[in-house]
Amino acid sequence: MFSFLPAEIISAAVSRNREKEEERVIISIGIFGFGKTGRVVAQEVMEDKSCRLSWVIRKSHRNEGEYASHFCGLETEQGKIYSIDSIDPRVFFREHPVDVIVDFSINSAVSYSKYAAETGTRIVSAISHYEKDQMEQLKALGRRVAVLYSPNITLGINFLIEVSKVLQRIAPNADIEIIEEHFREKKGVSGTALRIAEDLGLDVNKHVNSIRVGGIVGKHEVIFGLPNQTIRIIHESINRGAFGQGAIYAAKWLMNKPPGVYTMEDAVMLDVARNRRVFEMAE
Ligand SMILES: NC(=O)c1ccc[n+]([C@@H]2O[C@H](COP(=O)([O-])OP(=O)(O)OC[C@H]3O[C@@H](n4cnc5c(N)ncnc54)[C@H](OP(=O)(O)O)[C@@H]3O)[C@@H](O)[C@H]2O)c1
Repeated sequence: MFSFLPAEIISAAVSRNREKEEERVIISIGIFGFGKTGRVVAQEVMEDKSCRLSWVIRKSHRNEGEYASHFCGLETEQGKIYSIDSIDPRVFFREHPVDVIVDFSINSAVSYSKYAAETGTRIVSAISHYEKDQMEQLKALGRRVAVLYSPNITLGINFLIEVSKVLQRIAPNADIEIIEEHFREKKGVSGTALRIAEDLGLDVNKHVNSIRVGGIVGKHEVIFGLPNQTIRIIHESINRGAFGQGAIYAAKWLMNKPPGVYTMEDAVMLDVARNRRVFEMAE
């Protein structure tokens, strides 16, 4: 029957089937960190039907031996909690293998990832800041396994950065300003705003405007001022679930990738170029 259909229709159908197959695969995930963000990420992982949370590793002995699922109101037993001080990383990853580790802990945890990479485990690191030698360690892991490093793991922010770069290319004379708004207590300029400024080649001191009020989770705006019109690209984080969704997207994206160090921009823009779905919504 297919032989009467044009080749591109057949190829689109095959590719849709392949996407469905990829979605059906259950990915086992281990999480480093069970703090403010790690907890929310754990919940997002357990709510995703194509993922299974195998374990969580944290620093303290709090809730050791219990299941992350019980803290998220689930009756299943998913995500057994371990303290890093109670395990031997040289054997743990062999005895508790996972497809992907998602790191929302601390920059020094990159040293355990070495043992995980020896077992072929892919790594998603969301750590905001690495020292130079730690970054070298992360890059070294990329020679063995697929690693995705993203200090700004929200999908929308990566999309905002890429769209801003395109707009700057087609409107090179536009005035560009970045506005970042966060909760009152947040100190310093947001790392994301610094990244946007760097990517657009803007002087941070002149073009980044910070606003600190109340409880804003995070809002970034890039304004392009043109003679007769203004274009504003805005991203707003509503809650920390956005980090979990980004991490899950990164974990799935890494599944069929060869060793290397990738960024979230790589992932998002490749999928955008292929017209593949990036944002998932509960139906
Ligand atoms: N890329 C992004 O978009 C993004 C977004 C949000 C956060 N982050 C980053 O994610 C990290 C965590 O942020 P957070 O706000 O969740 O911090 P947090 O609340 O302080 O949580 C840190 C977690 O890491 C655990 N931890 C500390 N040292 C460890 C070690 N040596 N081994 C294993 N686990 C260890 C802590 O264990 P205990 O609970 O036992 O103390 C805690 O669960 C930070 O680097 C932050 O910048 C990145």
